[in-house]
Amino acid sequence: MPNVTTKDVIKVYRAGKSEVIALRGLDMAVSDRELVAVRGPSGCGKTTLLNLLGGIDRPTAGRIEVNGSNLVDLSDAELVRYRLQKVGFIFQFFNLVPTLTAEENVELPMRLAGKGPSARSKRTKELLELVGMTKRAVHRPDELSGGEQQRIAIGVALANDPSLLLADEPTGELDTKTGQEVLDLFQRMNQEFGKTIVVVTHDARVSQIAHRILEIRDGKILGEAAAT
Ligand SMILES: Nc1ncnc2c1ncn2[C@@H]1O[C@H](COP(=O)(O)OP(=O)(O)OP(=O)(O)O)[C@@H](O)[C@H]1O
Ligand SMILES: [Mg+2]
Repeated sequence: MPNVTTKDVIKVYRAGKSEVIALRGLDMAVSDRELVAVRGPSGCGKTTLLNLLGGIDRPTAGRIEVNGSNLVDLSDAELVRYRLQKVGFIFQFFNLVPTLTAEENVELPMRLAGKGPSARSKRTKELLELVGMTKRAVHRPDELSGGEQQRIAIGVALANDPSLLLADEPTGELDTKTGQEVLDLFQRMNQEFGKTIVVVTHDARVSQIAHRILEIRDGKILGEAAAT
């Protein structure tokens, strides 16, 4: 069953008189519990695609269905709820709140979703354990290494137990070993917790964990390669 389907998605950015067509009729389908990698040259529309799948931005035209609901039909308030509860985002530069500790960062999406204190605290502990960061719970991001920050960021993305994880070059800033640890964590999220994952990456090692690799060129899917 497809968890994510896009149909003829077009995204045009307008700035004054200039127009950039970032996506030009993009069709893709990702099955439930599938781990798909997305590749393509700079500017081909990868981040744009993730932003649309994650409800951070809206398409100019086309349909985007996630778990059967068309994101285009959601009101702004519904889209906020979707972002908070149905998807988790993992970025290249970790995107943690610098003034909050690791555990406060992980707890934040649950606060925003209105979860009670005891449920939040229980889940935060579980997540820190899961990403191997229990010992760093009270450290702020600037006291953590890049790999540690990324693991916390994965905890944040998982906080409200979304079925879909979206990641944009999650190993781009990490050294070889730390990058591998992050990819291993993605594989675990997929295999053990059944998360559907779409990850934009040029990291060649992703072929070890991805079920399929989609190639984007000029705002369209060019083709796909089976991963090894
Ligand atoms: N907010 C914006 N306003 C105007 N143009 C934009 C905006 N965001 C992206 N673009 C343009 O849309 C196109 C696709 O950008 P996008 O960020 O999706 O590419 P990408 O594949 O993620 O590239 P990279 O590999 O460099 O991250 C590019 O030409 C970019 O300049
Ligand atoms: Mg990008």
